[in-house]
Amino acid sequence: MTELAVDHIGIAVRSLEEGTAFYRALGLVEEGREEVPEQGVRVAFLPAGRTRLELLEPTGPASPIARFLERRGPGIHHICLEVDDIRAAMTRLKARGFELLSEEPQVGAHGALVCFVHPRSAGGVLLELSQPTSGGS
Ligand code: CO
Repeated sequence: MTELAVDHIGIAVRSLEEGTAFYRALGLVEEGREEVPEQGVRVAFLPAGRTRLELLEPTGPASPIARFLERRGPGIHHICLEVDDIRAAMTRLKARGFELLSEEPQVGAHGALVCFVHPRSAGGVLLELSQPTSGGS
């Protein structure tokens, strides 16, 4: 098993424009925006050293991010760990009784395969596992 790295930190924002302005003022450079219809979000990635910030803006009222903003307001939404075999990681967690939010990996930004672990099973943290597509993220 290779080293687990923090791939990104997900931050819920009401607007990508507003959200990125702060980090751009700090000198971070936006790497691009992408809409992920499967997750109901538009995302902006800002590389920060070996990891990235993923700003998440809801695309509609049914988006999980819209519901998060309603309940909690803007803020840290999830932490994403990169794994090299997401199905193996999911199987290991399920075998130990940890609760996943989907039975199968889903498609995330950059075409990566992702799966979320329920905060109940991860010490109150919404944890995303991500297996980058071959050919890099
Ligand atoms: Co994410």
